[in-house]
Amino acid sequence: MSLPSELCCPACRGPLAVEGVGAACRGCDRRYPGDRGYLDFLPDLGAAAGEGLGPRLMHSRVLARVYERLWRPFFVTVASSGLPDYRAEFEAVLAALASAEGGAVVDLSCGPGFTGRKLAESGRFSRVFGLDWSLAMLARAAADNRGLMRLVRGDVGHLPFKTGSLAGVHAGAAFHVWPDPPSAVAEVARVVRPGGAFVASTFAHTSGLRRHLEAAVATVGQFHVFEVDQLRGMLSAHGLVDFDCERRGSLVLFWARRAGAAAA
Ligand SMILES: C[S@@+](CC[C@H](N)C(=O)[O-])C[C@H]1O[C@@H](n2cnc3c(N)ncnc32)[C@H](O)[C@@H]1O
Repeated sequence: MSLPSELCCPACRGPLAVEGVGAACRGCDRRYPGDRGYLDFLPDLGAAAGEGLGPRLMHSRVLARVYERLWRPFFVTVASSGLPDYRAEFEAVLAALASAEGGAVVDLSCGPGFTGRKLAESGRFSRVFGLDWSLAMLARAAADNRGLMRLVRGDVGHLPFKTGSLAGVHAGAAFHVWPDPPSAVAEVARVVRPGGAFVASTFAHTSGLRRHLEAAVATVGQFHVFEVDQLRGMLSAHGLVDFDCERRGSLVLFWARRAGAAAA
């Protein structure tokens, strides 16, 4: 096994060395197993992390099995008041990642991995990582991977990537279940190279009666619903600029660029 050059120890950011089918950190000597189809940077984290109903459901094996075909389309339909159009969503993600072409990208919180696999199949990137912290989701992603992505188990708050090593980051439908979105954004900004791309989707408030419904569902499901300006502010606070977005009801797809010019 070879280790992708973009990876580092998420605890001390030290260099990694291959150890059997896994990796060991040369800086702090931590060991990261790799015998399940992904490199596990959270070997001590149990099968359920995060707080609240919505975030904890992401660790269910039943949910992981039905996520792509039932769960996601259901929520997209309800939140957007229209039929899901995954092809259009993927084309918008690809367009937002145009400046990352030829470089390495990560599908952050990849779930069962369908977007990461399509990014890899597009042939536009030198390498595609899929990262999640749910054992159940990663088991699905690994089973369907066909060698397309480099899968890693990690926490968005402590990414196992070197600073400035990625050309682009995609985080589909995940912001609202992250335990600490600003810390995750800080990590995204750290790992993306200057001029690199970030594209993500989540729930954002509309107005009127619908706004009350959004707040009620978020309270029951214990996930976040954002204001678009809040997302814009969170990104710009960490040097992710040129924010733009597309809205469909309570869904928002938004993208930004890491400030600074790409190295020649
Ligand atoms: C709703 S799913 C999104 C899956 C897929 N990206 C999509 O577009 O539908 C949210 C994912 O975020 C992951 N997640 C939540 N908190 C995380 C964290 N702190 N670190 C890594 N992944 C996390 C969950 O395990 C879950 O797979």
